[in-house]
Amino acid sequence: MKIFLDTAKVSDIKKWSDTGIIDGVTTNPSHLSKEGGDPVKVIKDIMNLLPSGEISVEVTEKEPQAVYDQAKKIAALGPNILVKIPCTEEYYPIIQKLVAEQVKLNITLVFTLIQSLFMSKLGVTYISPFIGRLADIDEDGISMLHEIKYMKDSYGFSTGILAASLRTVEHLHEAIEAGVDVATVSTDILEKATKHPLTKQGIKQFDEDWKKLGIKQFP
Ligand code: G3P
Repeated sequence: MKIFLDTAKVSDIKKWSDTGIIDGVTTNPSHLSKEGGDPVKVIKDIMNLLPSGEISVEVTEKEPQAVYDQAKKIAALGPNILVKIPCTEEYYPIIQKLVAEQVKLNITLVFTLIQSLFMSKLGVTYISPFIGRLADIDEDGISMLHEIKYMKDSYGFSTGILAASLRTVEHLHEAIEAGVDVATVSTDILEKATKHPLTKQGIKQFDEDWKKLGIKQFP
C-alpha cells in the first residue's frame, strides 16, 4: 500500500520525503494556489524531491479538448506525473483517448461505486473517492471504499483505489482496513498518525531502567 502526501507545500514534502514513508504527492488547484508562486516550478521542485514518487497534477481547463491538450502537456512534465481529471461524463471520451495514449490518470472527485466502475472500465491508473466530502453530506464513504474494493477484486480491474479527502487518523485507519491501494493524507494527519503516547512512555521507562546499570559504553 502506498501513502501520498496531499499538499503542494514543498517544505512539508521535503520533510516527509526524508522519512521514506511517502510514495508520492497529490496536488490540486487549491493546494497549488495556497503554495503560491509559479505552479510549474513548484511541481518541478516536488518531482526533484521524489524522483521515483508519483505526483498528481490536476487539469484547470474546462472544455474537453482543452482538458485533453492540457493533460498531454502536464503528462510531458515527467514520467512520474499522473494527470488528475474530474470524474464528469463530458470527459469520458478524452479519458478513454488519454488512457489509449498511455497517459497515467488519477480520476478525481469520485463519489459513487458506479463512477468507480465506469472509470475502472476505462482503465485509468487511479480513482480518487473523496471520503471527507461524503461525510460532509452524511454519507458513508468508508463503506463505499469496501464496495469499490469488492468490485475491483470481483471483476479483476487493474485501476488502483486512491482514498482521498481523508480528514482524520481514523479515516486513514479505515482506508487501510478497506484494502485501498493508496491513501493520500495531509501532513497534519500523517504527523498525528506517527505518534502514540505509549511509545514515548516506553522509551522513557527503558531509559530510566537502563541508567540503573551505570554502564558508560554499550556495546
Ligand atoms: O485529495 C483531495 C483533497 O485535497 C480534498 O480534501 O478535505 O478538501 O475534501 P478536502
